[in-house]
Amino acid sequence: MFTNLEHLGLAVHDLEAATALYTTLLGQGPYKKEHVASEAVDTVFFQVGGSKIELLAGTSPDSAITKYLSKKPEGIHHVAFEVNDIRAEMQRLRAAGFTLLNEEPKRGADNKLVCFVHPKSAVGVLVELCQSIPPTDHE
Ligand code: CO
Repeated sequence: MFTNLEHLGLAVHDLEAATALYTTLLGQGPYKKEHVASEAVDTVFFQVGGSKIELLAGTSPDSAITKYLSKKPEGIHHVAFEVNDIRAEMQRLRAAGFTLLNEEPKRGADNKLVCFVHPKSAVGVLVELCQSIPPTDHE
């Protein structure tokens, strides 16, 4: 089941500048900065009520965010929904004809298991499913 609009992911060129801008915009600083080596991205998270804003900047030319920003302007990169059983949702979406970008859930930022749905399957929007990893499983 989809339970929450968890976050909006924004692709940015300059993470420091975007962090400063969003700190002013939201009237509060981020609660977390995290490098995700597997994605070659640096992320910054802001809490806004029950949802979050995730700023993403690529840290290598191979990063999906770097490639994205070579073709498109800064802005909304993906929409992330919290789900309570990511494997069950992946199976349901596959059966419904959606193209998933991950065979298996993978570890994402902010202690989540994540899977992405191809934008072509979802009216041009890259959709992220995420499920919180229980604190006892944290590395
Ligand atoms: Co995200």
